[in-house]
Amino acid sequence: MAQHEGHLGAVYGAEGPQEVAALYDRWADTYETEMARAGYRHPAIGVALLARHLPRGARPLLDAGAGTGLLGEWLDIMGYPEVEALDISAGMLEMARAKGVYSRLHNLPLGGELPFADGAYAGVISTGVFTTGHVGAEALPALIRICRPGGVIVLTVKESLWQGGFGVAVEALVAEGGASLAEMTAPYVSMPGEPGTTPSRAVVLRLKP
Ligand SMILES: C[S@@+](CC[C@H](N)C(=O)[O-])C[C@H]1O[C@@H](n2cnc3c(N)ncnc32)[C@H](O)[C@@H]1O
Repeated sequence: MAQHEGHLGAVYGAEGPQEVAALYDRWADTYETEMARAGYRHPAIGVALLARHLPRGARPLLDAGAGTGLLGEWLDIMGYPEVEALDISAGMLEMARAKGVYSRLHNLPLGGELPFADGAYAGVISTGVFTTGHVGAEALPALIRICRPGGVIVLTVKESLWQGGFGVAVEALVAEGGASLAEMTAPYVSMPGEPGTTPSRAVVLRLKP
């Protein structure tokens, strides 16, 4: 696995969700500047894929692991009028709140059940969350449950997770008929300015209508 320094190295090495939350709380103020410096691409790719698979105006959407709200700003510009943010870090969510683009904010963990109704969302998007030391395939069942029939789930997934079982979990889901794989990118480097970044891929799942 690549070695990273600073905040990035710390969050990748976190031992459990509470440590992840505390580390992001401390990073929140400078996250966007540091990620811009690293040439961070996941949100741009996620928004592009969502716009290709979900019509303008679809609502509501859930930004799962929203962080400081990079996606929320761009989804607003792209014509998605109702986007909710969920994140385990209260500090990151405060930055997202300040942008004034999210209709609701939820300080909750991904990885188990979520307190939302079946089919509550027209779409779910999550960028930079399914990665080293963060969230794995255990979060998929709840995201699928809260996405409505015919809706889409857009995820970026670090290649080490994908090869380590995430890909198999997606294949199983598709084989069971609950969702189809609408699109998958080739592996790409999400932070070209951060040496040694392990590639990721982005996937679009469409729930059975
Ligand atoms: C690399 S940031 C990505 C933020 C935003 N999606 C973006 O692309 O800029 C990862 C985010 O996932 C959140 N996160 C990590 N583990 C989580 C979990 N178990 N549940 C919810 N959020 C989590 C972190 O707090 C952080 O805000």
